Amino acid sequence: MITKKIAIVCGARPNFMKVASLVTSMKACVTGMTPLLVHTGQHYDQRMSGRFFEELGLPQPDVHLEVGSGTHAVQTANIMVRFEEMLLKQKPALVLVVGDVNSTMACAITAKKLSVPVAHVEAGLRSYDDEMPEEINRKVTDAISDYFFVTEQEAQDNLLREGVPSHKIYFVGNVMIDTLLRNFPQAQTSDILERLHIQKGQYCLMTLHRPSNVDHAMVLKGLLKAFAHIQNRIKIVFPVHPRTIKMIDQFGLAPQWEQLKNIHQLEPVSYHEMIRLTAAAKFVLTDSGGVQEETTVLGIPCITMRGNTERPVTVTVGTNEIVGSDPTRIIHAVDQILAGQWKKGRIPDLWDGKSGERIVDVLKHLFVSVPCGV
Ligand code: UD1
Repeated sequence: MITKKIAIVCGARPNFMKVASLVTSMKACVTGMTPLLVHTGQHYDQRMSGRFFEELGLPQPDVHLEVGSGTHAVQTANIMVRFEEMLLKQKPALVLVVGDVNSTMACAITAKKLSVPVAHVEAGLRSYDDEMPEEINRKVTDAISDYFFVTEQEAQDNLLREGVPSHKIYFVGNVMIDTLLRNFPQAQTSDILERLHIQKGQYCLMTLHRPSNVDHAMVLKGLLKAFAHIQNRIKIVFPVHPRTIKMIDQFGLAPQWEQLKNIHQLEPVSYHEMIRLTAAAKFVLTDSGGVQEETTVLGIPCITMRGNTERPVTVTVGTNEIVGSDPTRIIHAVDQILAGQWKKGRIPDLWDGKSGERIVDVLKHLFVSVPCGV
C-alpha cells in the first residue's frame, strides 16, 4: 500500500504532549499514513525538550531543524528557512501543526506557500489580546490552515465568526488530555513529593513565564509581593521557567526573591513530575495555557494570573478562574480556596483521551481511503 507522509511539527515544551497523542494514534492502526516527526529545536535542552521525548515514549524526530533561541523574528525566520528545505526534500502530503508557539505559525506559513495543505490542532482559541505572541501565532495559523481541529465549542464559534466554512472544522476534544490520561498512572509513581518532603494537599504549585507577567518590572514586582503573602499561608512549589529567572535577575529583584523562604524553587520538572505535582496540589497558580486544562481534568482549583484566557471552557465548565496580575485579586482568590470556597467543575465534552484517534480518523477519510485496521 502507498502511504502518505504526514509531517507532524513540534518545537516547544507544550507541543511535545500534543504530538505524542498524534504519533501514537497514527501508528496504532494501519492508516495509509506515515508520521514524519519534525522538531524545530525552538526548545532544545534536556530539561525543556529531551526528557519529554523519553518520558512520552516519542520516537526520535525524523528531522531536527535545530533553530534554538532568538528574537521572535530570528527564530521564526530560521524555522521557515529550514522547514522549507525539509518540505522540498520530503514532500509530505499534509503538515500537521499543534498549539500556538512560533514553530506552529512558521511551519504553517512555509507549508502553505509551497501548496502543502495545513491542519491545525487546537485551532480557534482566542484570547483577543494581541500583546500575547501566541495570539498572533494562533490568528495567522488559522487564517491559512485548511483543516481545523478544535478542543471546545467557543473555538468553533470563533472560527465560524472569522469566516471558516463549517465543513472544515472538526470538534475532536483535546490531544493534550489524551496524553495526560495515558500518562497519569505512571506519573503517580513519581517520587517527587517524597524528594521535596511535601504532602498531598499541603502546597500550592506555581508556574510563571508569560512575557506579560515577567517582562515588565512593575508587574513582576507586584507578583513577588503577592507570593510573599501567599507563602506565609501555604508552601509554594515553583518549577522556574528559564525566562522567569533571567528576568528576576535582569530587574534586580533577586534580593526580594531570595527572601521568600517558603517557596520551593525547582529547575523545570519533567512531565510525569509535573502531573504528579499538579494532581497532589491544594491548588495551582499559573499563567500557562495547558496547565489551565490539566487542572480542570484533574479537578484541582486553578488561579490564572492573566487578564484573559483563550481556553474559556476551563472557566465555564472547569476549575479555573481568571484573576489577572493584581496582587490583591490573587491573594483574595487564594483566601477563597483556603476557606474551602471554590467551584468543583467537571471535565469538558470530548476531553476523554480519544482526540488523537478522532483526528487520525478524519485525516484518513481526507487523505487515504483505507479503513482502520485493514
Ligand atoms: C515558548 C512559547 C510559549 C510556551 C512556552 C513553554 C512562543 C511564542 N512561546 O515561550 O507559548 O508557553 O514556550 O515553555 O513560541 N530556553 C532554555 N532552554 C530551552 C529553550 C529556551 O533555556 O530549551 C530559554 C532561553 O534563554 C530562551 C528562553 O528560555 O531565550 C525563552 O524561550 P522561548 O522559546 O523564546 O520562549 P518561551 O518563553 O519558552
